Amino acid sequence: MKIVLHDKEFEPFIKEVAIQNRINAMAEELSDEYRNKTPLFISMLNGAFWFTADLLKQFNGDCEISFVKFKSYSGMESSGEISQSIGLDTDINGRDIIILEDIIDTGKTLAVFLEVLKKYAPASVKIVTLLLKPDALLHDIKADYIGFEIPSDFIVGYGLDYDGLGRNYRDIYVVKK
Ligand code: HPA
Ligand code: MG
Repeated sequence: MKIVLHDKEFEPFIKEVAIQNRINAMAEELSDEYRNKTPLFISMLNGAFWFTADLLKQFNGDCEISFVKFKSYSGMESSGEISQSIGLDTDINGRDIIILEDIIDTGKTLAVFLEVLKKYAPASVKIVTLLLKPDALLHDIKADYIGFEIPSDFIVGYGLDYDGLGRNYRDIYVVKK
């Protein structure tokens, strides 16, 4: 069923069950890769809140979690300006970092954050994203785990918003053209 947010219509794109199945598979792979380690997950707010919760519920083994928040989007456009409004509160030095992203679009936010992280000399950094828009990518970023590769169309739901609305939907929707 289609939904309306502000002035736009969105139609179903990725169903809840497909999202959850993919996340379970990713969590299983991560649990294997980080066996005998204690990774520090860093979740990129706001969008990654569902993804973080669902993935970590399925992760087996010791781990820690921390949250950061950057802002760049307004409406359907990336503003180009990145500002950080919640910072890291955990020591990164020597840690195995797993960054959790809801979506990699232009990759700008992540590029900025990776530069910051490097200064703290982590042992390793891996990037896990639920969604990737390969055709929109403007920065040299390579995600290690990708849930779904999708076209560059604007999407909402499962944590992703259009001007604040739509994060609460369990499915992912794409803007109607
Ligand atoms: N939808 C919502 N937020 C986003 C998107 C998108 O398609 N790309 C980057 N942030
Ligand atoms: Mg947003």
